[in-house]
Amino acid sequence: MTVSRVYVLNGPNLNRLGSREPDIYGSQTLDNVAGLVTREAEALGLDVDFRQTNDEAELIGWIHEAVDRGADVVLNPAAFTHYSYAVRDACALVTTSGAKLIEIHLSNPAGREEFRHTSVIAGVATGTIAGFGSDSYLLALRALTM
Ligand code: DQA
Repeated sequence: MTVSRVYVLNGPNLNRLGSREPDIYGSQTLDNVAGLVTREAEALGLDVDFRQTNDEAELIGWIHEAVDRGADVVLNPAAFTHYSYAVRDACALVTTSGAKLIEIHLSNPAGREEFRHTSVIAGVATGTIAGFGSDSYLLALRALTM
């Protein structure tokens, strides 16, 4: 079986999961989520690289790295979702290269504050999964294998 490489990338403030607004984001830490993702990836035969940054430039560099390696990307862009055209343009490099990029969110931004209703990423993503807590990550991995 060929093992496909997937970058699972997380944007700003997601390193605070567990203590950050647990009523919205749940009580699992990012390390817990990474563990779930690693286990699911193994079961699906995916080779996962799980990372988080609070830095836009670093995130863009990682997306470029995924493009150069022909990898698919699962991205929780966090607040960059709503305003970063630079992250959007990097995501477009993934999908125009023929790889997949799935935008994910723990919460359902469409049911929250107005500014969260806009995603500048969605238009260049292969698809979006939102509102399922940490299961959003696992659903995205499954979607990549379909
Ligand atoms: C989020 C939703 C964003 O609006 C927010 O800025 C985040 C997390 C989510 O996973 O629900 O940081 O991407």
